[in-house]
Amino acid sequence: MVIRPIRPEEHAPLGELTVRVYRQLLATELETYASVVRDVEARLAAGCEVLVAVAAEDVAGGVTYVPGPGPFAQLIDEDEAEVRMLVVDPRRQGQGIGAALTRACIERAEGAGKRALTLGTMPVMTAAQRLYRRLGFTRRPERDGNIPSGAPLWCYSLDLEATTSSRVGTRSPT
Ligand SMILES: CC(C)(COP(=O)(O)OP(=O)(O)OC[C@H]1O[C@@H](n2cnc3c(N)ncnc32)[C@H](O)[C@@H]1OP(=O)(O)O)[C@@H](O)C(=O)NCCC(=O)NCCS
Repeated sequence: MVIRPIRPEEHAPLGELTVRVYRQLLATELETYASVVRDVEARLAAGCEVLVAVAAEDVAGGVTYVPGPGPFAQLIDEDEAEVRMLVVDPRRQGQGIGAALTRACIERAEGAGKRALTLGTMPVMTAAQRLYRRLGFTRRPERDGNIPSGAPLWCYSLDLEATTSSRVGTRSPT
């Protein structure tokens, strides 16, 4: 399994996978949101990075890395990056692909010197919330928002200044 930037021939497969996975979780909310979720090209055109996990030549999952405030940012300040539309094919869930995609976003945010990597998730996305907590994200209810349909968006954020200094501490035991 490799994680890499999406290729043009993968735009439609990832868009369809994202709609299919979200549809299982979000019934009515997706009515207004499906066209946004499907449109990978719009995310790229807005300056986001779209990463895919490819296994046996299939798109097994994907994520959108939003490098800063802009049309696809929902919850972030100037010095933060955001994770959006993380999905893994249900047939391949539970194999660490979601964690690998999220870690790829963490690496990008760290490389860009961002203070935090932040995201919004919906209450029903319980597997995602366990994953984010396991990777060190913390719940930030004071920054919660709503998606366009009005449904709640829960904020989670990973403090990259804290994680960087703890890693530096590990490497420098003095
Ligand atoms: C959230 C999501 C992306 C996670 O993807 P995933 O590839 O299953 O994630 P991981 O495999 O890294 O971790 C999920 C679970 O598998 C377990 N796991 C990880 N590697 C494993 C392995 N090699 N073998 C068995 N289990 C494993 C993890 O411990 C974790 O367990 P948990 O459910 O008890 O927390 C996926 O569930 C999904 O697409 N959900 C629907 C869309 C969604 O909610 N997106 C989030 C938007 S904010």
